[in-house]
Amino acid sequence: MSNPAFRIVNIVGARPNMMKVAPLLAEMRRHAELQPVLVHTGQHYDYSMSRVFFDQLNMPEPDYNLEVGSGTHHAQTAEIIKRFGELMEENRPDMVLVVGDVNSTVGCALVAAKESIPIVHVEAGLRSFDRGMPEEINRVLTDAISNLLFTTEESGNQNLAAEGVSADRVFFVGNLMIDSLIGALEAARRSALRSKLGVRKKGYAVLTLHRPSNVDDPHQLARTMAALAEIAKEIPILFPVHPRTQQKILASGFNGTRVWDGETPVAPSGIWTMPPAAYLDFLGLVDSAAMVMTDSGGIQEETTYLGIPCLTYRNNTERPVTVTMGTNRLVGADPGNLVKHATEVLRNRAPSNGASGHVPPPLWDGKAAPRIVGILKDYLNARRSSTTAVYV
Ligand code: UD1
Repeated sequence: MSNPAFRIVNIVGARPNMMKVAPLLAEMRRHAELQPVLVHTGQHYDYSMSRVFFDQLNMPEPDYNLEVGSGTHHAQTAEIIKRFGELMEENRPDMVLVVGDVNSTVGCALVAAKESIPIVHVEAGLRSFDRGMPEEINRVLTDAISNLLFTTEESGNQNLAAEGVSADRVFFVGNLMIDSLIGALEAARRSALRSKLGVRKKGYAVLTLHRPSNVDDPHQLARTMAALAEIAKEIPILFPVHPRTQQKILASGFNGTRVWDGETPVAPSGIWTMPPAAYLDFLGLVDSAAMVMTDSGGIQEETTYLGIPCLTYRNNTERPVTVTMGTNRLVGADPGNLVKHATEVLRNRAPSNGASGHVPPPLWDGKAAPRIVGILKDYLNARRSSTTAVYV
């Protein structure tokens, strides 16, 4: 009798998880000996933060949706642990795979560790060295309890080695987010959003902002928005707004943004807000932008691959390769500095750190998913033979 397929539970919770899990699921489904299961924790639940990504990335319906919803970090993480724990008690897989650094990542990894289920962390080893960031806590804890750690850049290997993780558990496989990007780029370039907005190629900047450190303090947020209004005198800023940022802008009292009505072309200046963009629309917009200003992690990687100047509005990045090899420049969380660097980028119309941006970082080649799946199969088969050997 042939062996049963290996059941691998894959976790998604928040928006940036979707583009990492999508290519992995597609690859797993090509292998008869693997049975991928998809669990959505429900950390993100709005159509524009979740469902639309499933549709555009051709992801199957989740097998389970835990519907945890929003809450404080401790309440949300606790709810994820409780509900995923109940699922794992009923339905034990051969492996749990988590991606990235969100609350769903650490919550589900912790459950798997307590249940002695092997854990795989994709995007391991990234470190901002800033324990004030919730994501940094999630990264450090998840890596500490993972059995297999897949890294996207050399810094990840070095950080894990420095933390004492043995090299035989660490695999440098490249970047799943870039697998998705490469697969989606043609369709993204056909997105109608740019023509609806009435902006020409390189004639606008894209902005995203959602880190608690940038948006939670109304005074800092108002200063940031005032700096952006300065930049927006030179070039229209297109701002798809994350729900938490939307609430915070209202609370900050800043009223210098204009809401795009979804139809009329925007004016050649000003900050234009719109709901969170769908994956293909956003990628299409970034691909033709003069520059991107962001505090997101994933967007630093996407702009690096696409060769688009990126100004990261943070004091640190856990993705240093985007600065050393890519088009990213860390400007610090300083409104004055943001204006200075933005003016420079717009004047030079060049990648923000002088790099060509056309040579992607090593292994960002669209083949991370097959590399990962090959390693998972070897690991699971080796584990099965060793367990069988014990009982023979
Ligand atoms: C989470 C991740 C962050 C990631 C970001 C991407 C953690 C610690 N943070 O932050 O790393 O970069 O996702 O978007 O996991 N909300 C909605 N609709 C939704 C989801 C959220 O309105 O579908 C609102 C709610 O008011 C909620 C707030 O956004 O309280 C924050 O959502 P949450 O998932 O807690 O954190 P994010 O800021 O999205």
